[in-house]
Amino acid sequence: MQEVKVKDFSFKGQQVFNMLLFVFIVVLSAYLIVQLNSTNYGLFYLVFAAALLYGVLFVFPIGGADMPVVISLLNSFTGVAAACAGFLYNNQVMLTGGILVGAAGTLLTILMCKAMNRSLLNVLIGSFGATASGTQQAVTGNYKEISLSDAAVCMSYANKVIIVPGYGLAVAQAQHVCHELEKLLAEKGVEVKYAIHPVAGRMPGHMNVLLAEADVDYDNLMEMEQANDEFKSTDVVLILGANDVVNPAAKSDPASPIYGMPILEVEQAKTVIVNKRSMKPGYAGIENALFFQPKTSMLFGDAKVALQKLVAEIKAL
Ligand code: TAP
Repeated sequence: MQEVKVKDFSFKGQQVFNMLLFVFIVVLSAYLIVQLNSTNYGLFYLVFAAALLYGVLFVFPIGGADMPVVISLLNSFTGVAAACAGFLYNNQVMLTGGILVGAAGTLLTILMCKAMNRSLLNVLIGSFGATASGTQQAVTGNYKEISLSDAAVCMSYANKVIIVPGYGLAVAQAQHVCHELEKLLAEKGVEVKYAIHPVAGRMPGHMNVLLAEADVDYDNLMEMEQANDEFKSTDVVLILGANDVVNPAAKSDPASPIYGMPILEVEQAKTVIVNKRSMKPGYAGIENALFFQPKTSMLFGDAKVALQKLVAEIKAL
């Protein structure tokens, strides 16, 4: 199915306008509640329309990589709304369900904010995306490709390999063959570990669940901080369908929409092999300078197919 992308939209003074609109909605709603017996449907529809407009204006300026936090926040609001409806209808089930969804959604939002190095206040006042100012640094240069046989040799004769799983690994359902590769390398005496970024994939814990499904030993998974300490002593980093979570622009380009997001500092390793299908950007829709660095080589193809071929090559060595 063709993806439809909506560009960020904001105008000067939008935050002030949003605040005023919010106050307007609250005051009008309070008035409607006080006038309980009123049959003024016009005002009711006005609140409805203003709330609709507020929702759109609240979400539109938000940049791609920050979007999951907002989705999670809106999700928690649905729980709060359901809990309020539970009060209204005196329905205990609705109230309990709403509180559970609201609380879980809020916790998830806070965890995601932490993982992306954003404050919750930033989300609430709708200033996401506004942090990026100026023009993004242009990504130039040439990338180089690596053949399957070279990748197989490079990994088989390494002392230490770190695998970085991302959304592409999940889409390709390549976790089982990835585990097979890990076992094969371990049999050859290579130390293999996984570096898990807190927002890799499309939901928190996505990669942990995926790898657990393939029986990957939990002890081999490293959280971002630990992994960042280990890249220096790593011979090969194999990136499988990850992009934004290894984008150095998050550290080096203040104009980038992902600036400030903690990343896996894979460029500290001796060699980086990136598996993806093309040079297209990831979720945040931005170029990745890592792919053009001299120590990086691209291994194009679907993650599952590429890994199957890689496993066959290593077996044949
Ligand atoms: P992304 O930045 O989305 O990059 C994934 C890459 O996988 C793409 O560049 C794509 O390149 C490649 N890919 C897609 N299908 C593939 C396949 N079959 N085989 C091989 N490669 C494939 O992923 P990431 O690095 O994991 O970062 C996660 C992003 O999602 C972040 O921006 C994050 O903010 C956002 N997000 C996170 C969450 C949470 S909480 N985890 C929730 C929603 C969104 P090609 O098209 O060239 O193959």
